[in-house]
Amino acid sequence: MKTTHNKPIVLITAGPTREAIDPVRFISNHSSGKMGYAIAGAFLDQGFEVILVSGPVNISLSHSSLRVIHVDSADEMYAACQQYFPVARIAIFAAAVADYKPAQIYAQKMKKSTQEFSLQMVKNVDIAFEFGKIKRKDQVSIGFALETNDEEQNALKKLYSKNLDLVVLNSVQDEGATFGYDTNKITVINRDFLFQAYPLKSKAEVARDIVMAAIKVSQRLQAPVQA
Ligand code: CTP
Repeated sequence: MKTTHNKPIVLITAGPTREAIDPVRFISNHSSGKMGYAIAGAFLDQGFEVILVSGPVNISLSHSSLRVIHVDSADEMYAACQQYFPVARIAIFAAAVADYKPAQIYAQKMKKSTQEFSLQMVKNVDIAFEFGKIKRKDQVSIGFALETNDEEQNALKKLYSKNLDLVVLNSVQDEGATFGYDTNKITVINRDFLFQAYPLKSKAEVARDIVMAAIKVSQRLQAPVQA
């Protein structure tokens, strides 16, 4: 990719993915994309060039330093990210990617019958995991963990298995947090087991906190090693 502004680049995934069953049906989730888009806005405020790979959402954002790539499925999201990950200084995996997709997409609309019906599902690509395998030492990646139980343990598992620098933990038990709300309550965990818990804030304020945490890690990586 040709960078237009010579600014540092951040790659962000946002929103849900849609996994097609047939030409008129799909499997998806309740992600609104608000958090990912708020993070994109906060990076633009900090002078970054933002590549936002977005699943289907009802938000529009425009800025001279923003490129939005609209995708539907996890496979499409992964393909778009592959193009931009090598030039990104920071990658934020904020999308609620469907973990499974139908084993086959029916070419014609499926007709109902008198029989029971079951769908065979196969695993989707884990985008954060795949980029964790090829991440360079000068790149920072941040993922999210949305948990109902064993929150901290599950979040740490994601931090290490996906080779993330930070994981942002959301508990669905927190009032006013997660899907659809305009507020969020997060704990940011780093690789030194440092847990930073933030109070309930607007998604715009939460986005700023995440962006500042990401920039701090990135600056540490970019700083010349002292003799
Ligand atoms: N993620 C991803 N690709 C996937 C699944 C998840 O990039 N196929 C990313 C998400 O964007 C998030 C992190 O991985 O940053 C964790 O996502 P989450 O859905 O909480 O975890 P999973 O790894 O899918 O595990 P589980 O659903 O079993 O909790």
